[in-house]
Amino acid sequence: MSDLQGKTAIVTGAAGGIGRATALLMARRGASLMLADIGAGVEETAAQIRAKGGRAEALVTDCATDDGVRALVDHAMKAFGRVDILHANAGITGGLLPRLDTPSADFMEVLRINLLGPWIAIRETLPHLQPGAAIICTASVAGLRAGAGPIPYSASKAGVVNLVQTTAMALTGRGIRVNGVAPGLIDTPMTAPLFDEARARGREDRIGQLNPLRRGGRAEEVAEVVAFLASDAASYLNGQVLAVDGALSAQLPFTPKWSL
Ligand SMILES: NC(=O)c1ccc[n+]([C@@H]2O[C@H](COP(=O)([O-])OP(=O)(O)OC[C@H]3O[C@@H](n4cnc5c(N)ncnc54)[C@H](O)[C@@H]3O)[C@@H](O)[C@H]2O)c1
Repeated sequence: MSDLQGKTAIVTGAAGGIGRATALLMARRGASLMLADIGAGVEETAAQIRAKGGRAEALVTDCATDDGVRALVDHAMKAFGRVDILHANAGITGGLLPRLDTPSADFMEVLRINLLGPWIAIRETLPHLQPGAAIICTASVAGLRAGAGPIPYSASKAGVVNLVQTTAMALTGRGIRVNGVAPGLIDTPMTAPLFDEARARGREDRIGQLNPLRRGGRAEEVAEVVAFLASDAASYLNGQVLAVDGALSAQLPFTPKWSL
């Protein structure tokens, strides 16, 4: 498939996990990639794309600061002359366990990176986007319901869901689509402590016990949905956040008789 041929995509948080998987997939589909992350692993993602004949640039930057994102967008315009796709994906958990004593500074840091970051990326990219462009934010099932993440993380991701909806409306008449993905539990560096512990204890089967597919997800499975949302195949899909979670968010915490 080459449905992203001729397009340039910015992907934040591309040093690993979902961002790297999305970057590699979009490159395979013909896009040029402008990648950013606060971690140096983003250079490796770009190197992997170039090794396969693709076009990719990498920038180590804080994607939740005005200056960091402006440098990113400038780099993209200088390297590729256009931006067609933004995948605002960088994020942190701020710790995996819910804590009722989270200090304000810790709470705000999660909001800064997970919610303000995507907003800055949207705002700074917008002047370069033409009709037909696509913005995709990575939210989380934790932003749809309680029970899937710590308090600041979940609140930040609920904010991302609304950012998608409200920005899509604010762009009325511009021909630019804004959508999101809400991944469930995906095997990435972010969740490595969970997956590693489960594997070490021989309990990997427990990871997916709350969803009907009975397994955790892979970054590549989220990347497929992001690439679809970025493509013209999703031309009438706007203002939506698609859960990519094996149906984790589709159910209530009730044990039906067919699973007893
Ligand atoms: N893994 C999951 O189960 C899961 C579930 C739902 C949502 N998500 C979301 O998916 C996105 C990607 O996470 P992942 O699971 O691939 O984990 P990940 O840790 O591999 O990816 C997140 C990336 O964001 C980068 N980052 C953090 N702060 C940054 C900053 N200020 N500037 C630039 N880059 C920054 C990190 O260095 C990292 O490479 C995140 O937004 C995360 O919240 C993940």
